[in-house]
Amino acid sequence: MSTTFQLDTSTSRANPTPQPMRRLTVPKIRARKQDGVTAEPLVMLTAYTARQAQLLDEHCDLLLVGDSLGQVIYGLPSTIPVTMEMMANHGAAVVRGSYHAVVVIDMPFGYYEASPQQAFESAALLLKQTGAAAVKLEGGEAMAETVAFLNQRGIPVMGHVGLTPQAVNVLGGYGARGRTDSEAGKILSDAKALDNAGAFAIVVEGVVEPIAIDVTKSVACPTIGIGASALCDGQVLVTEDMLGMFERVPRFVKRYEDIAGIIQKTVTRYAEEVRNRSFPGEEQTYQPKD
Ligand code: KIV
Repeated sequence: MSTTFQLDTSTSRANPTPQPMRRLTVPKIRARKQDGVTAEPLVMLTAYTARQAQLLDEHCDLLLVGDSLGQVIYGLPSTIPVTMEMMANHGAAVVRGSYHAVVVIDMPFGYYEASPQQAFESAALLLKQTGAAAVKLEGGEAMAETVAFLNQRGIPVMGHVGLTPQAVNVLGGYGARGRTDSEAGKILSDAKALDNAGAFAIVVEGVVEPIAIDVTKSVACPTIGIGASALCDGQVLVTEDMLGMFERVPRFVKRYEDIAGIIQKTVTRYAEEVRNRSFPGEEQTYQPKD
């Protein structure tokens, strides 16, 4: 698959001309798991900006505009303060920057839990304002009615069970879930309820591996693991975590690069060159035409 974007720098560096290609669809993602088997695991990463989406798109089946943007982009202490406006702005940017992956957008805390009607209004607004194909919401059995309600009204839903960060104040932290029998049983029944309600996929976050495997075997739709198990039907990570933007990352994150280190080194060089007047050089300086 060729994915070279031609950047039209005369207009805008964020205005790619992608190769014409059909975007993956939610039914295609759902169909990747057949009779309990996902031959090719689903690849999902978070994306919050157009340029990031351009770079990730060809490699991913799904791009998640996660409400983790609250912490990653806005420096907030949790996902609780994230607003619809933040999600809509970043969601629209990610859709503009992609043409292959299915874009899923998180429903922010406080805009969907009260009733299926509230969830429909928020989800419809997000899809209208962004062009994303689906929403993700946190919660299990308590959200099953909402998932069915949205699905029946044309809004595909990705579920999210286990460690659900929007419930941090109830859970008391971000530790792994499913260590007791009752927690494990609840995660399993949550996932089954979402599956029965028509969720097209379910994120399984921060759970002990046997529970992740059990959930994956027990639901018809694909599971997407994060801090769960390689045997889930797919995986997701926060892109900035796996690229090494942050020094401290949870145990389940593999840091594939040290982007923070690269930025530090590069900016050190830039600052030196500005201070010793070696930047801008001749090549970066306009002279009058003769
Ligand atoms: O908000 C987010 O980025 C997420 C993923 C970590 C699954 O929900």
